[in-house]
Amino acid sequence: MPVVTVHTPATVANIVCGFDVLGFALNEPYDKLVMRLLPEKTVRIINKDNYNLPIEPEKNVIGGALLAMLRELDDNIGFEIESTKNIKPGSGIGSSAASAAGAIVGANALLNNRFGKEDLVRLAMYGEQIASGARHADNIAPCIYGGVTLIRSNDPLDIIPLNFPPLYVTVIHPQIEVKTSEARQILKKQVPLKDAITQWANVGGLVAGFMKGDYDLIGRSMQDVLIEPIRSMLIPGFNDLKKVSMEAGALGGGISGSGPSVFMLSKDEATARKVEGAMRRVYEKIDVDFHIHVTTVNSQGATIQASN
Ligand code: HSE
Repeated sequence: MPVVTVHTPATVANIVCGFDVLGFALNEPYDKLVMRLLPEKTVRIINKDNYNLPIEPEKNVIGGALLAMLRELDDNIGFEIESTKNIKPGSGIGSSAASAAGAIVGANALLNNRFGKEDLVRLAMYGEQIASGARHADNIAPCIYGGVTLIRSNDPLDIIPLNFPPLYVTVIHPQIEVKTSEARQILKKQVPLKDAITQWANVGGLVAGFMKGDYDLIGRSMQDVLIEPIRSMLIPGFNDLKKVSMEAGALGGGISGSGPSVFMLSKDEATARKVEGAMRRVYEKIDVDFHIHVTTVNSQGATIQASN
């Protein structure tokens, strides 16, 4: 039976002002999936890590996505998936999206690329829904397309890959878990018109900044008056992380997805490393356990490493 290995990247959703509509992929960290075709309509999940994620396909994001794909196929086939996660569940850098999108990309390779990219996003969203309780594509789309993506509409899907200049990303992950479903429940369902105006001006500015490669515009557009004021309460030392990062020369940044990770963008690696040091000192002072990565924006998305 053919086998494929997929590397499927972490992603930063929202990019501060674009709640549920903007996201980008990271080069580090990424999960690894090894997938085989099975001769019956079933999904068999084998966890090769210590996260104890459910292996029942209906309760697992990989299973949710692949069952959705199998429903659309007449063939009597299924998939076995060995999953090695390096992206910690609940970290805010698209752990569930990496699983769902990676599984769908791997399955499509085993099927000789029967589905187009937009279909892959649509199918992977069934998996994401299990984790977050909502159908949003701002982690899934960059995980599949790579780079920076705008999701102009979820239904019908309208995904716009954006150009972007070279960017370095510093991501700090305090070792606490924030469940996306819970971080969504605490949000206000209605917002004042004046805040909505500020927000969509910033989303427009950020998209223009990426497309033009205008670092200053990217930086000044990463402002969020709707979500950050509420969710930042869940993240230890959030305001200090932001303050010291800006002082170290970051363009800007904020909560990654629904948190608790916090990301900052920089123009060059030296600045991203300075930001890393500054963030590290904040957490060492308040004694919070953390992981920190300095990486770049991934332009490939989930990729097939080898097949035979
Ligand atoms: N847009 C989603 C949210 C991303 O912020 O809830 C979750 O990773």
